[in-house]
Amino acid sequence: MRNIVMLGVQGSGKGTQADRISARYEIPTISTGKLFRAEIERNTGLGREISSIIKKGELVPAARINQMMGERLSEEDTVNGVIVDGYPRTLEQAQALDDIMSGLSRQVTHVLYIKISDEEAVRRLSGRRVCSNNKCEANYHVEFNPPKKDPNRCDRCGSALMQRADDNPEAIGRRLELYHKDTAPLVDFYKKKGTLHEVDGQQPIPDVEAVINGILA
Ligand code: AP5
Ligand code: MG
Repeated sequence: MRNIVMLGVQGSGKGTQADRISARYEIPTISTGKLFRAEIERNTGLGREISSIIKKGELVPAARINQMMGERLSEEDTVNGVIVDGYPRTLEQAQALDDIMSGLSRQVTHVLYIKISDEEAVRRLSGRRVCSNNKCEANYHVEFNPPKKDPNRCDRCGSALMQRADDNPEAIGRRLELYHKDTAPLVDFYKKKGTLHEVDGQQPIPDVEAVINGILA
């Protein structure tokens, strides 16, 4: 069974590669960012609470996330494996994930650490476009991964493409700052556990995918 954590700076390709792993191994992806954006779109209580936090690139309070992940990982569709994207993001969350997993008699089997430079991250996030249909949220890049049919529409579902609210220069700067402060220590945390696999994320998308397929085979 593969219980995979995607780790890497914003824009490293966690979501892009999670989609591909999910299709290949037929296991679901739980993306905290996607779950939060769906709450904002539906204008729920939580959505209203976190909308401005996310737009500014700050982190959503941990208690909310750990509880949400505990509930989501207990759902039936994750029993044959799962990909977690966007979580954990702090040492506290990493410990919480370990506790959730051991409570379910499971463990994290692979941590895929996709490594890129901050300059590359800024280029990727500035040019990212996402499908406006939050059930789809397919990912594109104006230069590196444009849609094949219409430059302004999603290949998968035909909806209009848009820029994410947090892909603006101020929020990108803040997200990278928080990554280096809070998330980067997870590299050592998982290295010590022996589950970390480092992947050179500066290569084209299919090449990164091939490296990951080799690791998961
Ligand atoms: P989240 O949605 O997780 O966003 P993020 O962390 O900012 O990460 P990204 O989605 O920007 O990066 P990615 O690695 O997925 O890149 P992608 O594949 O799209 O979280 C959003 C917010 O929610 C957070 O800021 C926070 O507020 C909150 N939140 C979420 N989880 C939380 C938690 N656990 N605790 C607290 N708060 C939390 O790729 C980027 C672009 O590059 C795309 O355009 C893609 O086409 C392109 N690309 C990808 N790979 C390549 C390649 N190899 N070559 C060229 N281009 C590429
Ligand atoms: Mg993502």
